[in-house]
Amino acid sequence: MTYQAFYDRSMADPESFWMEQAQGIDWITPPAKALYKDGNNLYRWYEGGQLNTAYLALDYHVENGRADQPAVFYDSPVTGVKRSITYRELRDEVAVFAGVLKAQGVEKGDTVIIYMPMIPQTVVAMLACARIGAIHSVVFGGFAPHELAIRINDAKPKLILAASAGKEIDRVIDYMKIVNAAVAEAEHQIEGCIVYQRDFHQADLVEGRDIDWEKAAAKAEPAACVPVDAADPLYILYTSGTTGKPKGIVRDNGGHAVAMKFSMKYVYGVEPGEVYWAASDVGWVVGHSYIVYAPLIHGCTTVVYEGKPVRTPDAGAFWRVIEEYKVKVFFTAPTAFRAIKKEDASASLKAQYDTSHLRYLFLAGERCDVATLEWCQAVLQVPVIDHWWQTESGWPMLANMAGVELLPVKPGSACKPVCGYDLKVVGPDGEPVPPNTEGAVVIRLPLAPGTLPNLWQDTTRFIESYLSPYPGYYFTGDGGYIDEEGYVFITGRIDDIINVAGHRLSTAEMEEVVAAHPAVAECAVIGIHDDLKGQIPVGFVVLKAGADTEEAQLEKELVQMVRDRVGPVASFKKATVVQRLPKTRSGKILRRIMRHIVDGKPYSPPSTIEDMSVLPELEEKVKNL
Ligand code: COA
Ligand code: AMP
Repeated sequence: MTYQAFYDRSMADPESFWMEQAQGIDWITPPAKALYKDGNNLYRWYEGGQLNTAYLALDYHVENGRADQPAVFYDSPVTGVKRSITYRELRDEVAVFAGVLKAQGVEKGDTVIIYMPMIPQTVVAMLACARIGAIHSVVFGGFAPHELAIRINDAKPKLILAASAGKEIDRVIDYMKIVNAAVAEAEHQIEGCIVYQRDFHQADLVEGRDIDWEKAAAKAEPAACVPVDAADPLYILYTSGTTGKPKGIVRDNGGHAVAMKFSMKYVYGVEPGEVYWAASDVGWVVGHSYIVYAPLIHGCTTVVYEGKPVRTPDAGAFWRVIEEYKVKVFFTAPTAFRAIKKEDASASLKAQYDTSHLRYLFLAGERCDVATLEWCQAVLQVPVIDHWWQTESGWPMLANMAGVELLPVKPGSACKPVCGYDLKVVGPDGEPVPPNTEGAVVIRLPLAPGTLPNLWQDTTRFIESYLSPYPGYYFTGDGGYIDEEGYVFITGRIDDIINVAGHRLSTAEMEEVVAAHPAVAECAVIGIHDDLKGQIPVGFVVLKAGADTEEAQLEKELVQMVRDRVGPVASFKKATVVQRLPKTRSGKILRRIMRHIVDGKPYSPPSTIEDMSVLPELEEKVKNL
């Protein structure tokens, strides 16, 4: 079967294509219909289908010959702990923890926030929620209390599941300190918090609110899998939008399970029983899809790695893990390899390890620069596949579908659309542009199964953000072009979202914080190129008249404010004072022009610009950053 024939089938008759793919999972009640519309007139998949995602990820395999196969290899260079967990053991742990949740009154449809590091208990927490039909929302550990509070207010969880601590290279992160501050800030009141105590740092539990994870599990009864509808939410994952408020991306159960299974076989070209490793964090969509759900639904062994590509202990860490667990398919962000390359340019440490089991390396999360792609190809001697997707899609939209047919790689391109995605590049009029012409990347509706059906309790924002900009299409927020052979090149976001070390961040969120400084009259936060992280944010600030502050001191204060409010993950380390910001006559800051200036790209100021003379000053400032 060729890629083109398979893709064309998915386009010609999506309903029968996806009904056929749905047979790949074990439904409680198979769906009667593939595609339908819900009460909001939005597309949904698999009407009438009933299933349980945790059953598919665990019990199904225990009952079908994989009980003693490792489900998880936990490898934690930051704590020195390694643990192999079989499918049976993981199923049992999950069933018991689901019993803990039930005993705390969590029921089908309730929401639960998970604020935990890269440990097996986080996987247990997610699957335990899925087992009883509760909706989890995992929050990445690098976010500050305020960001956690925003998510608590929006998701309105009954419980928070947390760990006492996480470990970064150089320090212990006191997770409960962050949880306590977030709970104090949030308006929504949680009913309780279940805390997993880590050996190296025990948290003081709050009486009447906190429960010790292990003590509760010791006396819990295992809970059975609860059937849910295909359209019922499995999880909410908040991601940066173009305003200060993150978007709650909803994932359903049915379409998601089918898409996870489909992508493992046809995109990643991996077989059940093989080891699949995504070096990311469960707090991101990559972690949800390719550390937890897809590998387990597919019957693979997943690696939960609590470490970094470098300094835990060195730039050979990835090669070690690939050798030790005989990883077949590996997935990470290009920034991880840029970090390795920076410390060990010739990959000399690789000589100590046998990585010959590796079949493919997949890269995503940010634009893959050609130098990194070529370095990975040379070092690993396997196909290196740049593929493109986002939190909203939940799985790849552009890829070289290794499980179908490997197409020649074109550096700089994330290859061609994955089955189910009718991708176009359109101009401002919404019409497709000619080959090699840049425009907005959109997907013709309906989107494939597993993609977001809506935002959490905000249909209006969903429609305004994604469906209204180009009627009939889903707007991805990315720009790009398609060459004459159908290869797609993603050139970057065309909104105010930036990508820092593969982490998606909103400049609007940072602007809210910077603007709150008493000396700041107005500001713009723009992403500038960074050799390691791809992009980093820089604040351009205009001072209030008469503000009495040194620029260096102001920068220090702003850096600390963003760290405290958004979190260290923002990597906000630079702020510079300017006399004025480029604006339209109606007062709108011309962020697009600013983005072009910092990227050194040609730009033509709009006729509505208030004052052209502001631009040379900005160009000068940028040169000195
Ligand atoms: N909990 C608490 N703090 C965290 C955290 C977590 N889970 N994750 C990151 N942080 C902190 C870091 O300690 C760092 O703090 P610092 O400013 O005090 O140094 C800050 O947030 C920025 O983190 P990060 O962007 O990860 O930078 P880094 O310098 O620690 O590491 C890389 C750089 C490239 C090694 C790292 O980003 C990486 O491994 N990236 C891989 C790609 C990836 O995971 N992408 C996710 C999507 S696929
Ligand atoms: P996230 O939702 O955090 O996964 O971020 C998604 C965004 O990351 C996309 O909208 C792109 O801007 C960017 N991105 C992800 N993968 C790629 C890729 N392979 N090439 C270019 N940009 C990418």
